Amino acid sequence: MHPVILVKILQEPLVGPLRLDHEHRLGLASVAPKLTIRDFLPTDWKGIWPFLEQIIRAGETYAWPREVTEEGARVRWVQPPPCRVFVAVDEADVIVGTAKLLPNNEGGGAHVANASFMVDPARSGLGLGRALAEHVLAVATADGYRAMQFNAVVETNMGAVRLWQSVGFKILATVPDAFDHPVHGLVGLHIMHRNLP
Ligand SMILES: CC(C)(COP(=O)(O)OP(=O)(O)OC[C@H]1O[C@@H](n2cnc3c(N)ncnc32)[C@H](O)[C@@H]1OP(=O)(O)O)[C@@H](O)C(=O)NCCC(=O)NCCS
Repeated sequence: MHPVILVKILQEPLVGPLRLDHEHRLGLASVAPKLTIRDFLPTDWKGIWPFLEQIIRAGETYAWPREVTEEGARVRWVQPPPCRVFVAVDEADVIVGTAKLLPNNEGGGAHVANASFMVDPARSGLGLGRALAEHVLAVATADGYRAMQFNAVVETNMGAVRLWQSVGFKILATVPDAFDHPVHGLVGLHIMHRNLP
């Protein structure tokens, strides 16, 4: 079990079964919030970059250039609408995680969402990734997406794989040797998918 993380959602109401899961797990109804998940503001980038840089430089979880510049990273993460970016902020107003939600394809493929997540490694294992995932799933549902797909989950990223499976994603396929991991060498990339209520 994780230490209890309490989340206050400022934006869309939660809907359907996710609402019950979210409130039950996080105890929203009964206790004062300690973590807020809200829409990204331009001034948030300076709070995201230090841990996003750490994650990208490590090169173990994202198929981004490991030497990406800060501006290159900002452009990749903070994409224009219909992309939506979220931040998780602790009680001291420190950004501890971020997520983005966007259509996985355009036109006839735009009803399937894609999302990405980064939690400050210093705060991993505290339930922040799960809180962000539940928030993004609820927002995607409210925004009318019919499903969510992850295109490139590194198969050695077991924390992420287990988290996504625990919120309803299934591995559709694994593209063999599609990711050059700095420690493990060539490993697979999972395509993961779930329908939305
Ligand atoms: C993946 C990531 C978003 C998870 O966030 P997190 O805050 O560390 O995860 P949580 O504390 O919410 O853990 C949720 C679940 O993930 C799994 N998990 C997390 N860390 C794990 C680990 N080290 N080993 C195994 N499972 C783990 C557990 O199933 C956990 O379930 P529980 O709540 O029943 O214990 C975060 O580690 C991260 O940003 N990693 C680097 C970037 C990345 O990999 N992004 C995802 C790309 S697909």
